[in-house]
Order: sequence, then structure tokens, then C-alpha cells
Amino acid sequence: MSGENPAVRAALALAGTGLVLALAILVVGDGAYLWIKAGHVIAVISWMAGMLYLPRLFIYHCEAKSGSELSETLKVMERRLLRIIINPAMGFSWALGLWLAWRGGFHMAGWFHAKLALVILLSGFHGYLSASVRRFAEDANTVPVRRWRLLNEAPAVLMIGIVILVIVKPF
Ligand code: HEM
Repeated sequence: MSGENPAVRAALALAGTGLVLALAILVVGDGAYLWIKAGHVIAVISWMAGMLYLPRLFIYHCEAKSGSELSETLKVMERRLLRIIINPAMGFSWALGLWLAWRGGFHMAGWFHAKLALVILLSGFHGYLSASVRRFAEDANTVPVRRWRLLNEAPAVLMIGIVILVIVKPF
């Protein structure tokens, strides 16, 4: 049943967060900044959780025999993780982040430009993972497991830079 599926529950939670935030903007008006920031942080946590886990699934997938039960199960897990968690979480992160930048007047700040550059790299990596889900679904992955182990670290490195820039605001 869908209600027992953790992925569906997570998607419902994300949709619920969006709804609460939309209501917060309507009801609280200008005081909504901190609510939107809370929503932004919830969205980036969900996005990052997926971005850190998906390459790990690819590592297991490389080691599974093509056509085996494990390989088919991993295909379903990868597709659901991407569609139900990672894609909507990225959409919320961008929408709420850009609203914060506009409302907070950060669009001219150096730290914000640097953060934006790293987030654009992260979004590009998201696109690459999305294309890789399609390739794994067709049993057409050509990236060796050793490279996936290396690529697995990329979102974590970008995340560290992004969080330092937005919290320390060094320039
Ligand atoms: C998707 C594009 C993104 C944009 C346009 C964006 C923009 C912003 C802006 C303008 C703020 C408000 C800063 C303040 O009030 O001082 C903020 C807060 C924050 N962002 Fe983002 N962000 C994005 C993605 C991310 C990502 C990917 C992460 C983490 C990996 C992240 C982590 C945070 C954190 C932790 C805060 C709270 C900082 C604080 O209150 O001190 N953001 N973001």
C-alpha cells in the first residue's frame, strides 16, 4: 500500500512542507523570511541525502550481475529516489533559495555568488546522476566502479563549501 512506502511518505512530507510554507507567506507576509529559510534548509537536507545515497546505490549496482534480482531491485530504488526525493527537493531548494536571496538583498554579495557557483556545479552533478539512472535502467552503464567511488565524494565536498559560504559569509 502506498501509505506504507517510505519513499511516498517522504514525498508527501516534502509536499506538505511546501504547502505549509506557501500558507506561511500568505498569512505571515513579510515575517515569513525565517519560515522560508527553515523550508530551504529542510529541502537542501533532503536533496543532499539523495545526492549522497544515489552514487552509493550505483556502486552496489556495478557489482550486481546484469538481469539479476538485485540489479532489478536497484533500478527501482534508483528511479524512485530520483523522482520522489531528489528532483522535488532540488526544485524547492532553488525556489526558496532564490526567494531568500531576493528578499534578503544578497544578490550582490560575494559569498552569494561563490555559493551560487558551487550550487550550479551541484545541479550539474544532479543532471549527470539523472542521466546515469537512465543508463543503469538500460544496463548500459560504462563508468567503472572505481570512478563511482570517487564521484561519490563530489556532493559532500560541494556541500561543505556551500555551507561554509552561507554561514561564515567570508567575503
Ligand atoms: C539551490 C540554490 C540555492 C540558493 C539560491 C540558496 C540561497 C540561500 C540564501 C539567500 C540563504 C539565506 C542566507 C541568510 O539568511 O543569511 C540561504 C540559507 C541557507 N542555505 Fe542556501 N541556497 C541554495 C542552495 C543551498 C544548498 C545546496 C545548501 C546546502 C548544501 C544550502 C544551505 C543553506 C543553509 C544551511 C542556509 C542557512 C544559513 C543561515 O541561516 O545562517 N543552500 N540559502
